[in-house]
Amino acid sequence: MDYQKVRDRFVQFFEAKGHRIVPSSSLIPQDDASVLLTTAGMQQFKPCFAGVDSPYGDLAISIQKCFRLSDIDSVGDDTHLTFFEMFGNFAFRGEVSKEQAILWAWEFLASPNWMAIGRDRITASYYNGNRAGTKADGEAKTALSKVDGLSRVTAQPDTENFWGPTGSEGPCGPTVEFYVDGVEVWNVVFNEFYCQPDGTLSPAVGGLGIDTGMGLERLLLTVTPEAESIYDTDAFAPIIAMIKAHTPGEEAGVTKSIRIVADHLRGSVFLLSDHVQPSNKEQGYVLRRLLRRAILHLDKLNALAGFEEIIGAIIGRYGDFYPELLSQKDMIIQLANLERDKFLKTITQGRKELDKVISESENSITGERAFDLFATYGLPLDFIKEEAAQHHLKVDENSFERAFQSHQEISRAGVESKFGGHGLSSGAQVSEADQQVITRLHTATHLLHAALIKFLGNEVKQAGSDLNTERARFDFTFSRALTDDEKRQVEDWVNEQIQKDLPVKKEAKPLQEALGEGALAFFKQKYPNVVDVYTIYDPATDEVISKELCGGPHVSRTSEIDKFHITKEQSSSAGVRRIRAVIN
Ligand code: SER
Repeated sequence: MDYQKVRDRFVQFFEAKGHRIVPSSSLIPQDDASVLLTTAGMQQFKPCFAGVDSPYGDLAISIQKCFRLSDIDSVGDDTHLTFFEMFGNFAFRGEVSKEQAILWAWEFLASPNWMAIGRDRITASYYNGNRAGTKADGEAKTALSKVDGLSRVTAQPDTENFWGPTGSEGPCGPTVEFYVDGVEVWNVVFNEFYCQPDGTLSPAVGGLGIDTGMGLERLLLTVTPEAESIYDTDAFAPIIAMIKAHTPGEEAGVTKSIRIVADHLRGSVFLLSDHVQPSNKEQGYVLRRLLRRAILHLDKLNALAGFEEIIGAIIGRYGDFYPELLSQKDMIIQLANLERDKFLKTITQGRKELDKVISESENSITGERAFDLFATYGLPLDFIKEEAAQHHLKVDENSFERAFQSHQEISRAGVESKFGGHGLSSGAQVSEADQQVITRLHTATHLLHAALIKFLGNEVKQAGSDLNTERARFDFTFSRALTDDEKRQVEDWVNEQIQKDLPVKKEAKPLQEALGEGALAFFKQKYPNVVDVYTIYDPATDEVISKELCGGPHVSRTSEIDKFHITKEQSSSAGVRRIRAVIN
């Protein structure tokens, strides 16, 4: 059976039982801050289980886009994924009994008309009690005993057979799980309770709710006889084929990397299509982590050249089922490429450092060293762990986590005090790599400031400055718009100073002395009695190019800035102009 057929059959089966199909909701939960990403089909129906009238009728089904970061370490085996599709059938307030829900699940799995999975391959489990004092699910046990042909049933504790809530509050209850060849495929949840934020359970307001979830990819695996893993099914076939087409040789160990690339890029494509962008926080950080880990594995496979085509293959595979992939194809590819390019700039150095750390470590890599590799070079912890494991080393994850936390506190406090009068707008959680970009932009801003005075005269005074990872913004007093020639002059001059690879010197001086030497200062800024002065000078001519009071940090040589480009010049307020500029 193939991907399309399994989907069609699920929908046909439950439509025939009176259910209405509801489209998948976004991977970003709407009106639900309890989780970062949608992890279950029931999430969009949470209010319906809590007594709100269902706009979908009382019986619904969905094929939901889901994401579970908790499974990331298992990706690469035969059955685990981060992003996956989940089949679910739902009844919101007592319309469907436990016995009925169990019988439907069995019929769909075992009947020759539907999935036709051999009965001897299927087993099940039910809840034997304990969460908040709740009892074993006798009703489910009895229902399972009536299922003709189900030979093995086990009783399990709440760690296995009690589901929910998502986040700290919501519908939850005991479950019956169905397994095929020992792998869990279907979780049938009986939402008998509503869990309060303090953990107490109250009876569900609308009566018994039914919430089931079945991994599409796992189900497909069970009905694809020639497949040993989910990656061998036709849900993945064109994606795996494309990765292999770009992978030279058949060395040992490539299978896991190929699977990780397939899983992570598939997840990335779906996150991008739901408007997540790579960043250092929340959903954006999840996406960045997936993309970067996929890139590292592609690099290991020598298959990086295939990055864009693999993404194309994913969009091609799923576009018919998720039109948002097709309509946003260009944007998805563009953002993925951008993140790739940004990341590749730093990792070559990072890998060298990692090799060094590995050769210097015995038994384990300290959390501080791992964090340093992460913060300075953007190497993901997952990747460091994998490389370390190949050399029989562990990574101290607890001390990594501590270093991560304290870095976040420091950067939150530090953004305020750094950068002198050049405000930093990207907020907390700026990675070391991003700080490097901002530092380069910072020095470029000093050169811009000097150039404006050089070409426009002393009317120019800094009126504001703001830096983030994307651009510098500089406001200055000036009575008219700049001509195109003036903009070009300014830009060219800055680039000349960059090409000359001039040193940037830092000195601490008494404030009055610095001002007396003509160092530029920002009138809105309060300075201490002793200040740092940053000077860019040309040793060939002994000429001072720029001299400013500033808290730093700055690059040590101008060539680190690379190429400088003015993207916009406009009015900011009366008598104040605003320039936006970027670097390569
Ligand atoms: N909510 C349950 C799960 O996610 C069943 O849909 O497993």
